[in-house]
Amino acid sequence: MNDLMNKNEIVSVISEYTRLSPKGGRMWGLCPFHPERAASFSVSPDKQLFHCFSCKAGGSVIQFIMQAENLPYSDAVRFLAQRAGMDMPNEINDEKLRAEKALRDRLYDANKAAAKFYCDMLLGEQGAKARSYLLNRGIDGKTAVRFGLGYSPADWDALFVHLSSLGYTRDELIKAGLCVKGRQDENKTFDFFRDRLMFPVINERGRVLAFGGRTLDRDGEPKYMNTGDTLIYNKRHNVYAINMMKGKKLDELIMCEGYMDVISLHQHGVDNAVASLGTALTSDQAKLIGRYAKRAVYAYDGDAAGQKAMLRGVDVLSESSVEPRVMVIPSGLDPDEFIRKYGREAFFALKDSTITAVQFKLNYIEGETGLSTADGRQKYAERACALLSRLDPVERDRYVKVVSERSGIGMDVIREQCGVAAASETENEPQRLVSSGYKRQRDFDKRQKTEILLAACMLASKEARAKIIQLSSYSKALFTDSGLAELTEKLKEADKKNEKDDIRLILSELEERSSEAAGSAAAQADEIENPVEMARECIRALELENGEARLLQLSERVKNETDPQKRTELIREQSELLIEIRRLKMS
Ligand code: UTP
Ligand code: MN
Repeated sequence: MNDLMNKNEIVSVISEYTRLSPKGGRMWGLCPFHPERAASFSVSPDKQLFHCFSCKAGGSVIQFIMQAENLPYSDAVRFLAQRAGMDMPNEINDEKLRAEKALRDRLYDANKAAAKFYCDMLLGEQGAKARSYLLNRGIDGKTAVRFGLGYSPADWDALFVHLSSLGYTRDELIKAGLCVKGRQDENKTFDFFRDRLMFPVINERGRVLAFGGRTLDRDGEPKYMNTGDTLIYNKRHNVYAINMMKGKKLDELIMCEGYMDVISLHQHGVDNAVASLGTALTSDQAKLIGRYAKRAVYAYDGDAAGQKAMLRGVDVLSESSVEPRVMVIPSGLDPDEFIRKYGREAFFALKDSTITAVQFKLNYIEGETGLSTADGRQKYAERACALLSRLDPVERDRYVKVVSERSGIGMDVIREQCGVAAASETENEPQRLVSSGYKRQRDFDKRQKTEILLAACMLASKEARAKIIQLSSYSKALFTDSGLAELTEKLKEADKKNEKDDIRLILSELEERSSEAAGSAAAQADEIENPVEMARECIRALELENGEARLLQLSERVKNETDPQKRTELIREQSELLIEIRRLKMS
């Protein structure tokens, strides 16, 4: 691998894609991944890394090729080997790549065996409770089989025992997210899913990637458990039930929030429903959807969280050239509840009256400002015009009438206001108008950005890293991004063995999907002035967020706990956590 990297000097590789010129020890150019006028793309010849300050793409020459040529990791390596005239792929020996692939295959197999086990359990004696649960929810046996539904027994380790007997190692099962180590005793092993209705998440190629598990009790906590990030699964890249769309010619897909919505719609003969599993749609998911249909109908829950998610989601879809539509489900029902209550025809009627993304946004604004007061109508008109000003003129004109009618303000005034808004938009945020054409949209959320910053601090220097580990409560558990966790662990290992840390090499060893955030961290490391201080700040923010999430869970549990002794215990835990959170907020 080292040889491969040396023979593919990053500046010369990237120069084939964009023109670079030197400035201040780095090479600068226009970013090849999005349109821009000023150069915000930089390459560091010393570190052999690239970084775009605008779209935050970054990493080694391998990550560059992965993005520029749109290749998976191993193909990018092959591409570079060919470019350097090296033999491929065995000579580059990718022992390591092959080992990784073998491990991935084991995880796929383990998941498949687990799915089979859960299915058997659902059909067996222990599955009686889960079967009657399904029946109660109107799901028949045929649908259950089609979706591969199952039941995870209540025992601590039924799956572990079974899969061990089939030859899967403990390590493999933990890596697949099927089992976990004991909290108190690390040597113990438990099944991750227990006493739950199981939903396998299956990809286009029919491979079982992950599971969701629903509690069968009304107030079970949490309602759903899901496989976290593993070597073969990242929920941000997958869409539930996409495997069922294979080979279908579809005009549109219906996008729901949850497992049960999809299954219930299928049960009622609506067979083009999928779910994003989590509220915020990512660009990878949008692209996946775009491969099957040119239009996606959002059918999220009518609650505030669902609305917010759609607001952003419709833009994510448009950016991936999928036409978004929004279905408004009345009286706060979710698709499953609606179709069970009113039936299939009523659902199709709803589907025929979907609204456009712009109309949805206008409704949303109206909901926030209200129209019953003059003040509300004015605010509505202002915000609506700001929205319309970003549309092309023909589309805009269509909505000028709507806004005029709703607000009671004349069409001419609305038109003029749109023009004013358009002008001020251009001054402040010129790039907003370049809405399409982004090849690759990076959408790190706030949490990820903080994690990336923390990883960047760890990368800043060996000294900084030692200080951070020594001074603070740094732990790998702070990272929800598996790539960042792995990156920082590898650095710590290298430090321990007193090896020189070669970030470039470590990056190239990361699983392709997890290298995005890590690449961004590596590229930012240079810019951080005081890594130790910055790390403290990041750790505090992450701990605070973790604490608040736990607090929320705890208070739910307190609400539902009937045993007084357990309840007291929970309340004590809760108040300790509160003190901890206050301390974090003060520091
Ligand atoms: P909902 O709470 O809307 O549940 O969560 P649902 O899909 O309607 O499920 P039922 O009808 O109560 O059985 C929507 C989706 O959000 C995720 C799941 O993917 C769920 O399907 N979710 C929800 C979780 O991952 N964990 C949770 O605790 C709750
Ligand atoms: Mn539901």
